[in-house]
Amino acid sequence: MAIETPPATIALSAHALTKHFGSRRVLDGLDLEVARGEIVAVIGESGAGKSTLLNLLAGLETSDGGAIAIEGVDLAHLDERARSLARRRLIGFVFQAFHLLPYFDVAGNVELPLRLLGWPLEDRRARVPAMLEAVGLADRALARTHQLSGGELQRVALARALAHRPALVLADEPTGNLDARTAREVLDLLLREIRANHATGLIVTHSHQAAMLCDRVVRIIDGRAFNAS
Ligand SMILES: Nc1ncnc2c1ncn2[C@@H]1O[C@H](COP(=O)(O)OP(=O)(O)O)[C@@H](O)[C@H]1O
Ligand SMILES: [Mg+2]
Repeated sequence: MAIETPPATIALSAHALTKHFGSRRVLDGLDLEVARGEIVAVIGESGAGKSTLLNLLAGLETSDGGAIAIEGVDLAHLDERARSLARRRLIGFVFQAFHLLPYFDVAGNVELPLRLLGWPLEDRRARVPAMLEAVGLADRALARTHQLSGGELQRVALARALAHRPALVLADEPTGNLDARTAREVLDLLLREIRANHATGLIVTHSHQAAMLCDRVVRIIDGRAFNAS
C-alpha cells in the first residue's frame, strides 16, 4: 500500500524562540507560523528584534531556545556546512545594507549565489539576464556597484536574493533607504517576484503602505509576535 504524506502547507515555523544579547532578552518565547505562499509584513519599534528574528530564521545567528523549521528543515540542528548549504538553497535574504560585492559587476553579483549552488554555466547565462530584466536593470549588467543609485542597488540585491527561486524570501527593511517612489517600485517588484515563484515572504518594514500590501501583518512586541491585522 502506498503511503501518502499530505503536502506540507507550513513554509516556516518558529516555536518558543528565545534570544538574549547579554542580559537583554530580545526574543522571549516567540511563536510564528507562515503558510506556503503567504507574504507577511513584520513591524515593530526599532530595537524590537525584527532583524534578530530574520537572522535566526536564516540560521545566521543561533537562538538560546526554541525551534525553527524552514520547509521542514531545522537549520539549528545542522552542522555549519549543511546549514549554509540549506540556507543558500532555501532562502533568499535581502539585507538592508545591500551587501553587494564591489569587485563584481552587477551581473556577477546576481550570478554568485547560482555559482555557489553549482548551477551549470548555461543555466546561469539564461537566468542572470532574465533576473536583471525582471528588475529593470538589463542595461546595467556590466556596471559596478559604486556606479549605481540606492534604488538600483536595492534592485540588484533583490535580483541576487531571488535568482535561485528560493522557497522563502526574508527581506530586512528592503525599502528603508529609498525615496517614496523608488520604495514603492522596489516593493512591487519584490512582491511580484515572490508571488511569481510561489514563494513565501517575510518582509520587515516601517512603512504602513508596504505592510498593507502584504497578506498579513505581524507585530513584534516584548519579544513575541502578534497578528496586527
Ligand atoms: N549582535 C548584537 N549584539 C548585541 N546586541 C544586539 C546585537 N544585535 C542586536 N542587538 C540588540 O538587540 C535588540 C534588537 O535588535 P534588532 O533585532 O536589530 O532590532 P530591530 O531590527 O527590530 O530594530 C536591540 O536592542 C539591539 O541593540
Ligand atoms: Mg533591524
